Amino acid sequence: MNKKFQTIISGNSSALKGQIYVPSDKSISHRALILGSLAVGKTIISDLLESEDVFKTANGLKALGVDIYKRGNEWFVHGVGIGGFCEPDDIIDCGNSGTSVRLLMGLVSTSPIKATFTGDESLRNRPMDRVVEPLSEFGAFFSTNYDCKLPIHVIGSNEPIPINYILKIPSAQVKSAILLAGLNVKGTTSITENEATRDHTEKMLESFGANIKVKRKGLSKIISVSGFSKITTSAIKVPGDISSAAFPIASACMIPNSEIVIKNVGLNPLRDGFIDTLIEMGANIKIENKNLENGELVADIHVTYSPNLKGIEVPKERSPRMIDEYPILSILAATAKGPTIMDGIKELRYKESDRISAVSDGLKRSGVNVSEKQDKLTIFGKGNQKIKGGSIIDASNDHRIAMSFAILGSITEKSVEIRGASSIKTSFPNFIDLMNSLGLDISILKS
Ligand code: S3P
Repeated sequence: MNKKFQTIISGNSSALKGQIYVPSDKSISHRALILGSLAVGKTIISDLLESEDVFKTANGLKALGVDIYKRGNEWFVHGVGIGGFCEPDDIIDCGNSGTSVRLLMGLVSTSPIKATFTGDESLRNRPMDRVVEPLSEFGAFFSTNYDCKLPIHVIGSNEPIPINYILKIPSAQVKSAILLAGLNVKGTTSITENEATRDHTEKMLESFGANIKVKRKGLSKIISVSGFSKITTSAIKVPGDISSAAFPIASACMIPNSEIVIKNVGLNPLRDGFIDTLIEMGANIKIENKNLENGELVADIHVTYSPNLKGIEVPKERSPRMIDEYPILSILAATAKGPTIMDGIKELRYKESDRISAVSDGLKRSGVNVSEKQDKLTIFGKGNQKIKGGSIIDASNDHRIAMSFAILGSITEKSVEIRGASSIKTSFPNFIDLMNSLGLDISILKS
């Protein structure tokens, strides 16, 4: 079997029952490794997400001279301090991970070192101009092809200058790349964000003692970071990932008699748009045992079967708060009564695959009516009518497309076959085992 392009089959599921933990938060895991690398001394991380994407960040940091290793259940990062990176000997391959490459390019751009970055086929097709443009303003030089895609050779600036940048797209990766670059620049770098995106970098920088300030100006935020300040090590415990929890949550809503509890999930207010949306659709979801850990809101999510889901119009301005959850929301929407309208979602076209067309194409093949526009998707939910399924889905090596259609297969008349499913391990390595332990029937096709 070619593991790189694994095929899985998802068949009918029985009721989901039980209490589970989902894998740790991917965004927070990347940042924990990065900030640990910039601190002087030892940072200890518990519950780091051990997935391919996070390992790409770890490997990139190791190539820049950072000592990172696992002992027992904890990860240790011996930081080199801001400005302490060395030049990598080889190309840094970030695989499938946009967060790894964009944040690492930010780190390198204000250090006097050269590095070349590349990635897998999916990453090589994703836009990098969004980071190349602001990072060039610091004085870094980027050598790339005409459409600004990977591979990219970066020559970090010797004498970087601070920048004031207005974010053109709501992207936490771009914001974080600039903030990380700004740490090694004399003076204050500031970013204006008109649509709020996940603020894990800001929160973690604060807990590491960086000189970071966030001011509100009307609906916008101005985030400024002063460079050359020392950051101190911190102990970090990573909560469960809401973007992974979204899959069992959606399943439990759709499958009769289900009742599950997902423990210890990160519910940062800039990541919880999926929960708000499901509750508006009529899902039976309760948030229990709220707690603050490392400045991040953490809670248990209690979900029971929700037979009366109705289609809704998802507010455009909510999209940054649930950007990774639209594929699985689309599956749920296919079972709701009436249309679900998702507008203002153009960014989905620039993810690990073009997720608007992947969702639209896969649902149509499975017997669901969908209307697709450049930045809008309308799913005509079938309500009480069964969805046919029997489809073959090409996940184009996009983990969230693969997992979303595996969930679809658990409720369709005929099973759904997903090709390119090996990508699941970039974010949710135990997806098949965990979902099967709850009641699903997903199997790996032996070729
Ligand atoms: C991420 C930010 C989002 C998200 C991605 C992880 C991060 O991307 O889709 O999965 O960790 O900063 P954008 O910044 O491109 O919106």
